[in-house]
Amino acid sequence: MKKKVVINASPDLKQAAKRNKREPIIFIRDNLVVPSKLSLIAKDKKYFIRTYGCQANVLDGQTIEGILREVGYEYTDNPMEADLVILNTCAIRENAEDKVFGEIGSLKALKTKNPNAIIGVCGCMTQQPHIVEKIQKTYPQVDLIFGTHNIHHLPQLILESMEKNVRIVEVYSKEGEVIENMPCHRSDKIKAFVNIMYGCDKFCTYCIVPYTRGKQRSRIKEDILKECKALVEEGYQEITLLGQNVNAYGKDLDDGSSFGELLVEVAKLGIPRLRFTTSHPWDFTEEMFKAMGTYPNIMPFIHLPLQSGSDDVLRRMGRRYTSKEYCALVDKLREIIPNVSISTDIIVGFPNETDQDFEDTLNVVRYVKYDSAFTFIYSPRVGTPGAKMEDKTPHEVKQARFKELVKTLAIYEREKAEAYVGKIIPVLVEGTSKKDKNILSGYSDTNKLVNFKGDYTHVGKIVNVKITEATTYYLKGEEVNE
Ligand code: SAH
Ligand code: SF4
Ligand code: F3S
Repeated sequence: MKKKVVINASPDLKQAAKRNKREPIIFIRDNLVVPSKLSLIAKDKKYFIRTYGCQANVLDGQTIEGILREVGYEYTDNPMEADLVILNTCAIRENAEDKVFGEIGSLKALKTKNPNAIIGVCGCMTQQPHIVEKIQKTYPQVDLIFGTHNIHHLPQLILESMEKNVRIVEVYSKEGEVIENMPCHRSDKIKAFVNIMYGCDKFCTYCIVPYTRGKQRSRIKEDILKECKALVEEGYQEITLLGQNVNAYGKDLDDGSSFGELLVEVAKLGIPRLRFTTSHPWDFTEEMFKAMGTYPNIMPFIHLPLQSGSDDVLRRMGRRYTSKEYCALVDKLREIIPNVSISTDIIVGFPNETDQDFEDTLNVVRYVKYDSAFTFIYSPRVGTPGAKMEDKTPHEVKQARFKELVKTLAIYEREKAEAYVGKIIPVLVEGTSKKDKNILSGYSDTNKLVNFKGDYTHVGKIVNVKITEATTYYLKGEEVNE
């Protein structure tokens, strides 16, 4: 039987695109409200969650898990055994969305097995009206559709859907709230992500994120420091400060906070390793450079998305820097942190990218010689300015450029990896190989994956490793006592 639909709120891209600077950010500090009725129902029930997106989505997933555990659900890694399935989705490219539709399709079997199971879809995909419409029309097995701004309301949504036996849609397209005091379940006890801000105001013309995540909202410095301090006390070895554009932290607060200052204060808490992501090349400050050059626990690694090396494409992408400015920034980072490792994101095939534009990208790659890179073929996103641009470049040309780019990047990735052979580097040990517990695995300060022979009691510690070999995907080595 078809379920009745209750729409509490539907996504609205126009509303989502609004940036009213005078509208103050609302900080909500209420504790989670769990209806006691739901706690009774959730007893002995199991949840399954799959997260598809970036670190921001991973943190949302950890909040959702924290909430579900507080309600009383237990985790299962088998969706077919679950009473509640949550798909925490990503909208960044079409292939990310296709995967989710595949998974929703296969969950039909769960409903046949257990008609009372609840299937929920959330994350960036559900912030888009055409996606919510498609789920509504095509996938009757979905019981709950909620957005990135509705996570704290999850217990009420689950209960409403169960009690009324209805399908619920609740997706706000808000100007901006910051919700503090939500539970967070971190299964990793060595490395933690900490949000320092939400949303994005940059509106790069290809990107859906400013629409799906709302306006830039920085958390208050004291809240961030409190969370980081607790993680240090719990014994965490690494914190990554997260935001779509961390350099702009504090610009939306009127208390003088800045990312440079925050970095220093978190570094001083004594976390062995401090990382941050993502830095937009536009918002660097002297304060940040100084912090990175001063505190040895700020890791010598930076993810610096280039997107394109062509000034015309960069202008049409709305990135607000030129390739020359970008390369000067790289020079400066290398001057301040001599062993800095640099990774990047590059998009090929932005509308009407010419051969010369693409050659300009290759030239920046040849100049910077990245340690690693994420490469993407441009994917038009409904509602963004890029999607309205006429595009005459055939798909085959884009594919050929993509191949060429990957090949060029690989030359330098290999070169950089081989330069480690014979060196002794610090590695944070994350775990052991399934087959051999004396083969350990972890990341160097420069963010290189290292597999090495060592003492399995050192998991969770930072050890010195002598690199003996560089393979395409990781470095090989042996633990040393130096
Ligand atoms: N805030 C981060 C980016 C988050 S999205 C930043 O500004 O760097 C991660 C990456 O996805 C982007 O850097 C970009 O390279 C890629 N990306 C975003 N939108 C895309 C699109 N429509 N098509 C292809 N790649 C895209
Ligand atoms: Fe997207 Fe640009 Fe914001 Fe990054 S800075 S999230 S690429 S709009
Ligand atoms: Fe994807 Fe949303 Fe992150 S679109 S990349 S999950 S902010």
